[in-house]
Amino acid sequence: MTRIDVLTLFPEMFQSPLNHSILKRAQDAGIVDIVLTNIRDFATDSYNKVDDKPYGGGPGMVMMSGPVFDCFEHVEKLAPEKGRVILLTPQGQKFDHSKAVELGKEERLILIAGRYEGFDERIRIGLDAEQISIGDYVLSGGELAAMVIIDAVVRLLAGALGDQDSPKDDTFSEGLLEYPQYTRPEVFRGMKVPDILMSGDHAKIDQWRRTQALERTKKYRPDLLKDHDS
Ligand code: ADE
Repeated sequence: MTRIDVLTLFPEMFQSPLNHSILKRAQDAGIVDIVLTNIRDFATDSYNKVDDKPYGGGPGMVMMSGPVFDCFEHVEKLAPEKGRVILLTPQGQKFDHSKAVELGKEERLILIAGRYEGFDERIRIGLDAEQISIGDYVLSGGELAAMVIIDAVVRLLAGALGDQDSPKDDTFSEGLLEYPQYTRPEVFRGMKVPDILMSGDHAKIDQWRRTQALERTKKYRPDLLKDHDS
C-alpha cells in the first residue's frame, strides 16, 4: 500500500477528485491511502493566521514557517515510513510521466500545497523538500497540482486500473503519443473505422498502431522524438 499525505489549507478541494473513478477505487481496494491534513489547524494565534507580509515589502502574503513545520512534524509521525517530501511550486522541476513512475515506487509521499505568493524560504530549506511544478504557469495554490500528481501516480500503481486495462499503452509510457482508438459504431457520420482494426490480424494491428503512434508523435509532439531511441 502506498501512502500519500497532503498538507493543505483547503482539504475540501480534494473531496471530489478523490471520491470518484480510479482514485476512489484505488483507495477502496487498499492500493493507496490518501490522508489530508489542514495546515490551519497548526496556526498558533487566535486568528488562525498562516500567512504574513513579506519582509522587504512587495505584494501578497507569504506562508509562515511555523504552522507548516508544526503540521509537517505532526504528519510525519502518522506513519513509520519516512516519505519523500514534495513542495508544489511553479519554481519546481517540471512533472512528467517519468516523474510519475518514479514517485509511484515510493512507499510514502508527503505533498505540501501552498497558497498566497509562496512559501517562506525556510520551509523549503528546513524540510529539505524537493520542489515540483506541473507546468509553466501560476495556479492560485498547490492543491490542483497535488491532485494532478496524485492522479497520475495512483493510476500507475499495480491494480489501480483493474485487470483489463493497463497503463502500458498510455500516451508517454513509451515516449510516444497513443495510437488512435475506435469503438462502436463501425461508421459514425460517414467516418469509418480503419479496415485493419476489423481484420482480426493482431500482428498487423500491432504494427499499424505502432506506426500510427510514431506518425502522431511526429506530427503533434516532435519534441518527444528527440529522446526516443527507435
Ligand atoms: N502552485 C502554483 N502554481 C503551481 C504550479 N504550476 N505547479 C505546482 N504548484 C503550483
